[in-house]
Amino acid sequence: MIKAAIRVPDHGRLTPWRFILYRGDSRHRIGKMLADLAEKREGPLPDQRREKELQRFSRAPIVIGVVSSPKPHDTIPEWEQFLSAGAAAMNLVSAANAMGFATNWITNWYSSDPDGRRFLGLASGERVAGFIHIGSFNGEVPERPRPETAQVLSEYTGPWEDV
Ligand SMILES: Cc1cc2nc3c(=O)[nH]c(=O)nc-3n(C[C@H](O)[C@H](O)[C@H](O)COP(=O)(O)O)c2cc1C
Repeated sequence: MIKAAIRVPDHGRLTPWRFILYRGDSRHRIGKMLADLAEKREGPLPDQRREKELQRFSRAPIVIGVVSSPKPHDTIPEWEQFLSAGAAAMNLVSAANAMGFATNWITNWYSSDPDGRRFLGLASGERVAGFIHIGSFNGEVPERPRPETAQVLSEYTGPWEDV
C-alpha cells in the first residue's frame, strides 16, 4: 500500500509528503490526548462527545497519516506539492480498497489545530493531507449521491473571439 502511495506524480522529485503509522496502543493514547485537547479548547465535554474523541483513532486497526511536507523551491509551487500529497492519499485509499479493505479519509478538527498536529507527529510547515483509516467493514459500504457527469464536464470552446 505504501509503495502504491509513493508511486505518484511529483513535480521536481521533491517528495513533498511522508506517512505516519498509528496502530496498537498509540491509537488509544491519541484518543486521550485529543479528548484533553478538545476539553482545553471547549471546556468540559459531555460524556458522548468525550467518548467520540477517545475513539477517534481506534475505530480501525490502523490509521495512516498522509502528511503534506512541501519543500521550498523557486519554480515548483506549493500548490503542486499539495496536489501530489492528495494523490498519494488517494493511491493509498485505492490500494487498500483493491486489497479488500474498507477505508475512510478523515481530517477533522485536530488537523487544523496546531497543537493537534504537533501531538500527531507533524512538524511546523507540515499539514495533514488525510488520516486514512483502514480496516474491514461489516456489510455494504453506503453509497451517497454523486454529481452527474454533465454537471462537471464541459467542452472547451475557447475565447477565440479575443484571439
Ligand atoms: C481531504 C479530505 C478530508 C476529509 N475529511 C473528512 C472528515 O474529517 N470527516 C468526514 O466525515 N469525512 C471526511 N472526508 C470525506 C470522506 O473521506 C469520504 O468522502 C466519505 O467517507 C465518503 O467516501 P466515498 O466518497 O468514497 O463514498 C474527507 C475527504 C477528503 C478528501
